Amino acid sequence: MRKKYVAGNWKMNLTLADAKALVQGIAAGMPANAGVDVAVFPPFVLLHPLAAVIGGSIQLGAQNCHYEASGAFTGEIAPQMLLDVGCKSVIIGHSERRHIFGETEELLKKKVMAALKVGLKVIYCVGEKLDEREAGQTEAVLHRQIHKVLGADVPLDEVTIAYEPVWAIGTGKTASPQQAQDAHAYIRGQIGKLYNAKAAEAVRIQYGGSVKASNARELLGQPDVDGALVGGASLKADEFLGIIKGAQPA
Ligand code: PGA
Repeated sequence: MRKKYVAGNWKMNLTLADAKALVQGIAAGMPANAGVDVAVFPPFVLLHPLAAVIGGSIQLGAQNCHYEASGAFTGEIAPQMLLDVGCKSVIIGHSERRHIFGETEELLKKKVMAALKVGLKVIYCVGEKLDEREAGQTEAVLHRQIHKVLGADVPLDEVTIAYEPVWAIGTGKTASPQQAQDAHAYIRGQIGKLYNAKAAEAVRIQYGGSVKASNARELLGQPDVDGALVGGASLKADEFLGIIKGAQPA
């Protein structure tokens, strides 16, 4: 049985005071022995102060990193720096990084390798845009995003995949549970081809895109949906806790 994993991607939101209040609110409401892995991904500047207040049941991660260990890369953050301030994981390839900041699969592969090398866990995001879905290209896009970045040279043990259809992110439109399940089953099948059946069975695949407390249980009840990567709804403790509860084993 794969343990469900609920992650909150805060994006470019919250002041330090609001961020502290949010993690405290989540920690206070966390069900005892939740049976769910929980992590939050605040903006870079909040990581160090939050590491000091975050409880043991909530892991800390970053939303991005550079692929070099150090050097003349103004404005960038190295993977080791994230570990140093208490991060356990990093999100790589979020659709906003791909489509607003032009990150390519070649770049994302370097980032994934660099993060894993220092011992960070990775959430690697994939997902098609609306025009790609409407043109029947969903599987082709997922195929490219998976095969160009993952593979025999990338150890999969510390990687979670997040399927986030771009048309469902921040739009209030959620993939139907069946649409999510179909995409997740396709991704798991590709992992089976790239690695082996055991790796495909073990890898966790989160769904992301307008997940909220009211739809979490149904989405996360699909056989190949192993958790959620949550944007907007992760900024409110009650909503995020509702998603965690929706992920708990029945
Ligand atoms: P959303 O964002 O939950 O606000 O749709 C999800 C994400 O971008 O990870």
